[in-house]
Amino acid sequence: MKTYIVGNWKLNFTVGEASIYLHKLLKKIPNYRDIEVVVAPSALALQSLSLQIDRHKMKLAAQNAFYRDFGAFTGEISFSQLRGLVDYAIIGHSERRYIFKEDDKMVAKKVAAAIRNKITPILCIGETESERAFGETSDVIRDQLMGGLSEIGDDDVDKVIIAYEPVWAISSTKAAKIASPDEIADSVKIIRRNLEEIYGKKVASEISVLFGGSVNSSNAGAYLTVPGVNGLLIGGSSLILSEFSDIIEVAKRVQA
Ligand code: PGA
Repeated sequence: MKTYIVGNWKLNFTVGEASIYLHKLLKKIPNYRDIEVVVAPSALALQSLSLQIDRHKMKLAAQNAFYRDFGAFTGEISFSQLRGLVDYAIIGHSERRYIFKEDDKMVAKKVAAAIRNKITPILCIGETESERAFGETSDVIRDQLMGGLSEIGDDDVDKVIIAYEPVWAISSTKAAKIASPDEIADSVKIIRRNLEEIYGKKVASEISVLFGGSVNSSNAGAYLTVPGVNGLLIGGSSLILSEFSDIIEVAKRVQA
């Protein structure tokens, strides 16, 4: 099975900076066949980076897109416009859910739009700090997972990648807010158990589940060895060339 190392650049880098960073990254990392390296730059940079990228080494992802293909939706970019430019799209990231008020219905439509346009959705799910404190983690995981998959046919579910990102562990430096491998293992079990109940054993075992939340080159190895975790979704550390390339090396070592 492939290991996914996905860098979410969020709202960072100008188009020029993104191009320089990508150039350096392409030079620095080898081509590992079983490691799928993906970067998600700002939408503005996707067109130019799609011409620059070596798709044998790395793929591009969108950080978001709208679910309608065209029409009167001022300010939006559609999955149909991204078709051919990106291979992946991050959908339902907690920053989209909580800052931009995206609900499960909207997320589900985006997952369907991505699949319709031959783009692999990376569906992000995860509980907030208060949901965790109230013991609601498994309910939230179930709701966001089933909600996010509700607009696609059963046959398409295995085309989706799930990213488990506990909101409280994102962009965190305090030790208390770093997710432990055991906690992640529990949540990944819940994800796969829910998938098995609805879609069967095969889908539940074959779907890729990534972890995200303050991943860096020092903790990547521990996270990648959590049973059921197939890769990492990385924010802050993906903006630092040495960190991101070290994480790729860690992934290679873990796989060996
Ligand atoms: P982080 O971000 O690695 O900076 O915590 C992860 C994410 O938000 O996807």
